[in-house]
Amino acid sequence: MDIVIKNGTVATASDTFRADVGIAGGRITAIADDLSAAREIDATGKLVLPGGIEAHCHIAQESATGGMTADDYRSGSISAAFGGNSCFIPFAAQHRGMGVLETLDLYDSRAQGASVIDYGYHLIVADPTEKALTEELPQAFARGVTSFKVFMTYDLMKIDDSQFLDILSVAKSHGALTMVHAENSGIIKWISDRLVASGHTAPRYHAISHPAAAEAEAINRAITLARFVDAPLLIVHVSTPEGAGLVAQARLEGAKIFGETCPQYLFLTKDDLDRPGMEGAKFMCSPPVRDTPTQEALWRHLQAGTFSVFSSDHAPYRFDASGKLSKGPEATFKQIANGMPGLALRLPLLFSEGVRGGRITLNQFVALGATNAAKLYGMHPQKGTIAIGADADIAIWDPEETRTVTVEGQHDNMDYTPFEGRQVTGWPVTVLSRGETVIDGGELVAEPGRGRFVARARPDFTGYPGTRTPELDPAWNFGAEIAP
Ligand code: URP
Ligand code: ZN
Ligand code: ZN
Repeated sequence: MDIVIKNGTVATASDTFRADVGIAGGRITAIADDLSAAREIDATGKLVLPGGIEAHCHIAQESATGGMTADDYRSGSISAAFGGNSCFIPFAAQHRGMGVLETLDLYDSRAQGASVIDYGYHLIVADPTEKALTEELPQAFARGVTSFKVFMTYDLMKIDDSQFLDILSVAKSHGALTMVHAENSGIIKWISDRLVASGHTAPRYHAISHPAAAEAEAINRAITLARFVDAPLLIVHVSTPEGAGLVAQARLEGAKIFGETCPQYLFLTKDDLDRPGMEGAKFMCSPPVRDTPTQEALWRHLQAGTFSVFSSDHAPYRFDASGKLSKGPEATFKQIANGMPGLALRLPLLFSEGVRGGRITLNQFVALGATNAAKLYGMHPQKGTIAIGADADIAIWDPEETRTVTVEGQHDNMDYTPFEGRQVTGWPVTVLSRGETVIDGGELVAEPGRGRFVARARPDFTGYPGTRTPELDPAWNFGAEIAP
């Protein structure tokens, strides 16, 4: 064995136990008492957890209107590693007029040589041409990009219901997972136009223009479309009890519907949008942050298993002219980039408030932060767990360490953190990726470029029965082969 992590408390998505963990050739080769090796890491008093998998973050990504995120694969991956992650899955965003493979090549060129941890991409599909559907999405899948994301809002990104069905069907026929940003574009436009016309342009009106009804309608429609073709679907960044309830109900009925929520919906509220001047812009994301009863409801859904993944939705736009204020200090809420940073704080916040706060178990924390993403995104059991044969992607946590969050303490390229001043207890102190140390005692010790692209397999939908849609009887010969 090359390395042994000694005397720690190991936790997986199902079990917590005392054991040493042995590593050889970048993989876990032993879980037992009293192991020894040339290099020993003392984890006395620490938790030995699977490295986190950050499954929703925007890195080196242009928005449809041309704005570039502040983080690239170097800073983004470093920030992720400091937050206890050993793998992340940012988006490769196809914009209209771009080919799918051209998009993947572009993101390869951005990620290669830059990332300190392993990575994959979810492919954003904004231009589902015939060629994209019949040739390029299958090729993307064969290349190990096994999740496709679509938008139901944003004028330059959104697809219509028929295109959505096309993508769901193609994804299903290959075993890929479709992800959706579900908000009703018409409702948002209708309210926004009226607010701006009447001079209500401050950041606080962003929340008013994205009501819960807009999310609920779109989630309901997205689930209906996915169930119609019996395709798996993951609703990203669910922000309302109404939306979470729809996900929960569909899951109860046996549909392959999955949900994700994010720290901002548990830890921030629309009062943050009311901060003086343009400060509120720092807290603008879509869907928007809501209120305290919503936070409580989302915690309950997290406890009850409605959400399979908990992701940061790190969308880093600085609070300056390069980002949020690119249209100047008088910008209307419609002109301010949506999104906020949080890559490094996702897991510490969940640990502090969730595990230490007694809301979720340590095993739920592991499932939400790593294991479920590994399964849903086709990386399990290579990643997301501590088991013989798995990659030695491990985060060692000090469950007692308390820090106050500051922007200076972050390792991303941002000039603010929305969680400034928050006291957080429980931090990752050492992070290994394939047995190589990335973070050691709070210091970065890995070189950018060591991270590898992970060609992902079919997601694992074990336990979700298929349903029959009579209209899609193969005898009707719709062209697409419907996988069992
Ligand atoms: O406001 C957000 N969430 N921005 C990032 C893009 C997205 O919709 O996920
Ligand atoms: Zn989104
Ligand atoms: Zn996002």
